[in-house]
Amino acid sequence: MTCVGSEADPLGMISDGAVLTEAGHVVWVGPSADAAAACRALDVLPGERVDLGGRLLTPGLVDCHTHAVFAGDRSAEFALRARGATYLEIAAAGGGIAATLGPTRAATESTLERLTVDRMQAARATGTTTMEVKSGYDLTVAGELKLLRVVGRAGARAGMSVVPTLLCHVVPPERKADRDAYVGELADVLVPTVATDRLATSVDVYCDEGAFTRDESERIWRAAVDAGLAVRGHVGQFSDQGAAELCAAFGALSVDHVEQVSDDAIAALAAAGTVAVMLPGACVQLRLPPPPVEKLRAAGVPLAVASDLNPGSSCSSSLPLQMWLATTHFGMTVEEAWLGVTRVAARALGLVDRGVLAPGARADLVVWNAEQPAAIPYQYGATLIDRVVTH
Ligand code: NIG
Ligand code: FE
Repeated sequence: MTCVGSEADPLGMISDGAVLTEAGHVVWVGPSADAAAACRALDVLPGERVDLGGRLLTPGLVDCHTHAVFAGDRSAEFALRARGATYLEIAAAGGGIAATLGPTRAATESTLERLTVDRMQAARATGTTTMEVKSGYDLTVAGELKLLRVVGRAGARAGMSVVPTLLCHVVPPERKADRDAYVGELADVLVPTVATDRLATSVDVYCDEGAFTRDESERIWRAAVDAGLAVRGHVGQFSDQGAAELCAAFGALSVDHVEQVSDDAIAALAAAGTVAVMLPGACVQLRLPPPPVEKLRAAGVPLAVASDLNPGSSCSSSLPLQMWLATTHFGMTVEEAWLGVTRVAARALGLVDRGVLAPGARADLVVWNAEQPAAIPYQYGATLIDRVVTH
């Protein structure tokens, strides 16, 4: 699979292909028959040669939306939802995000790091080599900074390339009475500190029912832009607050969820080049209506697919499973699902050096026990990984 896709062949598949890597980067991709000549032409010293026996080779998968740093367990909420309770009802009764705050605040840094490493290792076992991880389960200034540091350390230990993101998730229960002051702290203290300390490259805000209002979100996103950080948004999961068009106006890297989004916002996202991140695991599990994939596609909005790994709405890190849900439940094509967990996912993170097999890209590779890309979502639930290679 290469970056040289076309309309007829969006994945740019090469049958009987070869990849040359050097010093952790791809230097050449093409037909096996041309590999020896490419080595000579590029002056690449012959090194280890690995015959993959006709197996499918792809770029390492990029999970562009996770909440992998948390403590505690909310499987009881899953059981309640299975009996018909809704996510918003459970949250209003004290469950939801607030139920993860206590265990996360109480956990030591080393416990949080171990839990996050475990989750990253599980993700790697299903093909993920780059993982975005959002903070958002402490919600104090000092605690959010701590979570972002934990993400960096966990990535180094787990052999996972990580992209930490500051997530302004909800107003914590103890700040409900002075939410204006809390939003001010986020915008005036937390966001600038994250930028100065280089703890994240983007600021995500959850703008929805039960989270931040459009005005509050705008204040935080403006602070992000002022601090030189990119904008991302959890928007339109439950209701359309007009946040997708606001994100487009800020030139956001991505809007995520977008089950509820207006036609005007879709046009604005397309014009801004903002990626729409599809999170089918959370959507299906919460029994929400799917996002308007056909309209997004028709407008030319790039579509990524991510796990949304979190303790509430989607407790899974498997991107192959998300590809299955994206194809069977969201009406995405197999090619869209693949691009959604590779090249477009990298774009949602503002990265161009991964998610493709092309000269200059990181040599993050997955070898599959399969021959065709469709086999991965087709055999949902199976682990078809032969090996994952990173440097
Ligand atoms: O992306 N929507 C907001 N945040 C998460 C859920 C977080 C939680 O329930 O802990 C999501 O679905
Ligand atoms: Fe999320």
